[in-house]
Amino acid sequence: MQLRLEGITKRFGSQTALDDISLELPEFKALAVIGPSGGGKTTLLRVIGGLMAPDEGELEIDGERIGFDEESLLAHRRRIGTVFQAYNLFPHLSALENITLPLEKVHNIPRPEATDQAQALLERFQLAPHGRKKPAQLSGGQQQRVAIARAMAIRPRFLLLDEPTSALDPEMTAEVLDIIMELRSEGRDIIMATHHMGFARSVADRTLFVCDGVVAEEGPAVELFGNPRSGKLRNFLAKILKY
Ligand SMILES: Nc1ncnc2c1ncn2[C@@H]1O[C@H](COP(=O)(O)OP(=O)(O)OP(=O)(O)O)[C@@H](O)[C@H]1O
Ligand SMILES: [Mg+2]
Repeated sequence: MQLRLEGITKRFGSQTALDDISLELPEFKALAVIGPSGGGKTTLLRVIGGLMAPDEGELEIDGERIGFDEESLLAHRRRIGTVFQAYNLFPHLSALENITLPLEKVHNIPRPEATDQAQALLERFQLAPHGRKKPAQLSGGQQQRVAIARAMAIRPRFLLLDEPTSALDPEMTAEVLDIIMELRSEGRDIIMATHHMGFARSVADRTLFVCDGVVAEEGPAVELFGNPRSGKLRNFLAKILKY
């Protein structure tokens, strides 16, 4: 996929979360977004995913200019499969219903067909025995796999993942990363904020280092990690590799 940002700025009150970001990624399959807490990763992902309009700037995905009026944003975000850190699922619905509801309500797919599709996804992600359970009855890793299944169900143009494993213990993290890795190897386009540097290195073909509201460095992960140009990235890498 392709991504172009021109002068993207987002402020919250007096705070500038994204500060005039211009960026052109001509062709990539998986984009990792890394950087320190509060640097602007989530805000950037929310703008790219149409969950939030920037105050200024332009966004182009695959050559298509995304409008920032409510109607255009809604149409845009309906085509993207989004997964956040945690609390992705509707707590009062079963795993199966969590997947079928958006298919029925947002994408107008008749219930029997939606149920078939959801069932197939649950099987594919080794969740078939858990379809009737509510989120609170599932482990964190299972919940995130249901969230990914739901994101995939709409046949999204790409997956937008915001630290989907940050609330998980190492074993569950591995389960979820395995699935993301698998989707990636099937050719699914992915944009993901992550603090797993090894994962960024092995899965992403581009990496953005976002810090203080700007894209401070950009390139293949191997290059960024092997040869950090800015003091900010060197500091960040030193910190996360310390423990
Ligand atoms: N809804 C909001 N209202 C006010 N300030 C916000 C809001 N969302 C984000 N911010 C601020 O914008 C800045 C960027 O936040 P953002 O959530 O994008 O960072 P992040 O890189 O995702 O951090 P983390 O790694 O902790 O998830 C932060 O200083 C944050 O406090
Ligand atoms: Mg964040």
